[in-house]
Amino acid sequence: MTDPVSSENLLDNLSTAVLQLNDKMCIDYANHAAQALFERGFSLLAGCPIYQFVTPSSLDVERLKQSIQQGESYSDSEVNITFVDGRHTQADLSVTSIVDAQSQYLLLEFRQIEQQKKISQENHQWAQQQAAKELVRGLAHEIKNPLGGIRGAAQLLAKELPSNDLKEFTNVIIEQSDRLRNLVDRLLGPNVRPKFHWYNVHEVLEKVCTLVDLDPSHTISIVRDYDPSIPDVYLDQDMIQQATLNIVRNSVQALMQHPDIKGEIRIVTRIERRVIVHGARYPLCVKVSIVDNGPGIPNELKDTLFYPMVTTKKDGSGLGLSISQTLVGHHRGKIEVESWTGRTEFTLYLPIERKDPQK
Ligand SMILES: Nc1ncnc2c1ncn2[C@@H]1O[C@H](COP(=O)(O)OP(=O)(O)OP(=O)(O)O)[C@@H](O)[C@H]1O
Ligand SMILES: [Mg+2]
Repeated sequence: MTDPVSSENLLDNLSTAVLQLNDKMCIDYANHAAQALFERGFSLLAGCPIYQFVTPSSLDVERLKQSIQQGESYSDSEVNITFVDGRHTQADLSVTSIVDAQSQYLLLEFRQIEQQKKISQENHQWAQQQAAKELVRGLAHEIKNPLGGIRGAAQLLAKELPSNDLKEFTNVIIEQSDRLRNLVDRLLGPNVRPKFHWYNVHEVLEKVCTLVDLDPSHTISIVRDYDPSIPDVYLDQDMIQQATLNIVRNSVQALMQHPDIKGEIRIVTRIERRVIVHGARYPLCVKVSIVDNGPGIPNELKDTLFYPMVTTKKDGSGLGLSISQTLVGHHRGKIEVESWTGRTEFTLYLPIERKDPQK
């Protein structure tokens, strides 16, 4: 039997936020999940009264005091917690009164409900998107095989034709078959194996920015807001470049439709801790946000945005986001979206791991 991990280590790996308060309602201990919930490290929480961070109405002061004085424990479900900085979350709360020889304490456990809801919603959406992709891929395969036959037969026919005038028709068949083949190949997605190396994510993003800047058809400005301390990430450069470019291009296209507003795309990189991707939890992720001040994603598209062939553009194939999602999926990452009029934010999460993402 291996040695059990220390209780401190165990507490820090819990997804439940755990706080210990003394009889003055000041914080004596906060595990990592609690530090994430309060968006502060322990040094900024230690010794401070809890009401310095949450509004008194969200945690019933009197009830907490009563609990510590009378040694009563209690639980509350769906507590609305409002932080003094305006953030808001819902959690199931359990308060345990602990009495030892010298003092009395309260143990507070917060289990965030939104997080649970979000995870199950995310898993559901992911499963649906995968099913849609499989369907489209299956169809694409079925189209691809006879297409080769049609093109080949048209080529043979062209050779047998007595007059060049008639070749116009076989050329149409060949051209249209090629067009369809192109579409089918895009539907099937990239079929090369990813080539992972350690890269600075900013180098990849700079390539995307250069490609967008080189396009003379727009005057949209790109604003970089990079966190230079982000470590190298094990990734396939071409794939992440393509995934990001598809998203940035969408922003450019959305902004170009509104020449009346001064278009701006912000590319923000940050480190994000404790990110859950399709049920797996990663301690550290690179978060790349692409934010534009365009018209926002049409409401009717929001549920099916990542499905293949969903588009509002005259000449769009609706594959950009579906491909981006597949490429980020090869890196065990995910893409999230938030959008309303005047602001659309796509966020890529890429886990920072010290092992080959393919294994
Ligand atoms: N930043 C954005 N602002 C507004 N709408 C967006 C934005 N990004 C995506 N969309 C909407 O989502 C749809 C799907 O995007 P997606 O990239 O998958 O396909 P597309 O851009 O239409 O076609 P393709 O990328 O294959 O050329 C777009 O048609 C557009 O309506
Ligand atoms: Mg697109």
